[in-house]
Amino acid sequence: PSVAVLAGGLSHERDVSIRSGRRVAGVLRDAGLAVHVLDVDSELLPHLRHIRPDVVWPLVHGSTGEDGSLQNLLDLVGVPYVGSEAAACRLASSKPVAKALLRQAGLPTPDHAALPQSVFREVGARTVLSAVEDTLGLPLMVKPAAGGSALGVTEVSSTDQLPEAMVACFAYGDVALLERAVRGVEVAVSVIDVEGEPRALPAVEIVTDGPYDYDARYNPGRSEFFTPARLDEGQTSAVQELAVAVHRTLGLRHVSRTDMILDDDGVAWFLDVNVAPGMTETSLFPQAAIADPRDLADIYVDIVSTAAV
Ligand code: DAL
Repeated sequence: PSVAVLAGGLSHERDVSIRSGRRVAGVLRDAGLAVHVLDVDSELLPHLRHIRPDVVWPLVHGSTGEDGSLQNLLDLVGVPYVGSEAAACRLASSKPVAKALLRQAGLPTPDHAALPQSVFREVGARTVLSAVEDTLGLPLMVKPAAGGSALGVTEVSSTDQLPEAMVACFAYGDVALLERAVRGVEVAVSVIDVEGEPRALPAVEIVTDGPYDYDARYNPGRSEFFTPARLDEGQTSAVQELAVAVHRTLGLRHVSRTDMILDDDGVAWFLDVNVAPGMTETSLFPQAAIADPRDLADIYVDIVSTAAV
């Protein structure tokens, strides 16, 4: 099939998306497919009309790409696309919504509070933050409710760090997620869903010197990755089962990647899920795919072929 890879977009993860798009396009071309890479801008629809691809692969991260907006547009155009449908994207891309739905399904996720910026204006920052701290305790992770690549994320271990963390967070969106920090091994499990049943790829373990922030994500050598993760059989099943359960519970399609913490008791805690996981040289999905018996190119071609029908 001919493929149009969509990259770029307007989110804070635009640069990451362009790198993801180039890498996927390169792999698909090497596999013999006809591939166009299109930026998501005002020319997108004319370009799609002109090219008439068999399938589109939206690799736009963050807002527009993962929140269902772009998928809605592709539904209107009537072109098949890789990845989850708009409604599922909308649920999965909001961390508070995804966490609430998964908790209802019995899956572990750390306690949290979701705070719109307006609450701080209405009630006052000091009151809100001390109520949250009383309920959740410290340390806390402060994150934008949507978006990825750890932009705007800060770990807070003392009360005086909270205001600065909130300012950093609200730079990326107007709802903050304050989440109890769980200690353990940081693991990402990608899921592919092209054979009728979702299947977990080998787990990737992330080891960083400091926080796994934007810099540690995209500068080669800043983080160490172990694929498959250095886990025993029971731990491996726990993390892979969580990722598949997340994929199923949120009604996701074709691909997803769940980020989690595996604690010392062997409990895998859901942190967030990506419906358009990064596909750059240092991203986690490609590392998992390379370690899978089916291999990266075969997996990408499987995904495209499944989405095209
Ligand atoms: N949000 C980035 C692209 C990732 O999770 O890979």
